[in-house]
Amino acid sequence: MGANNFFSVLGKAGVILVLSVSAVSVFGQDVVKQDSIPVKPLAIYQVLKPSCMPCHSNEGRDKPRNAVNFSIWEQYTSTERLMLAGSIQKEVQKGSMPPKGFLNSHPANALNAEQVNQLVQWCDSLKMKP
Ligand code: HEC
Repeated sequence: MGANNFFSVLGKAGVILVLSVSAVSVFGQDVVKQDSIPVKPLAIYQVLKPSCMPCHSNEGRDKPRNAVNFSIWEQYTSTERLMLAGSIQKEVQKGSMPPKGFLNSHPANALNAEQVNQLVQWCDSLKMKP
């Protein structure tokens, strides 16, 4: 094996090693995140977290937390989730959640049109198979 061949083999092995290590770490992180999030899928949790969960979570005040608490989403019964899905969909479509007062002080936490769509479709899917 000439020196050039040797280095090209070494180079390829290095690329493969780097690719497989990064694939493992990306995969590993994703698994950890999916396991530790209260609402699945991750994309929905990422929408709820800044826009809804300041109030609707274990960290929120009594009133919103009692209306819907996304921290304990998986502990609701399927009937409760079915009813909440209808209610969440209605609030989001009307644009009444998050509340205006919250948006005045946290404009960056507003839902954009795409996020409204995501939530509406998620609620639809919950209503199909709660
Ligand atoms: C600033 C705090 C706050 C944020 C942020 C917020 N809410 Fe609310 N939400 C409330 C409060 C307070 C109530 C209770 C209103 C009442 O009982 O009159 C409520 C009620 C609700 C209800 C029950 C409505 C009903 O009439 O039964 C739903 C569903 C809801 N919120 C969904 C959401 C969703 C989805 C988001 C995010 C897109 C969100 N909320 C963001 C404060 C918040």
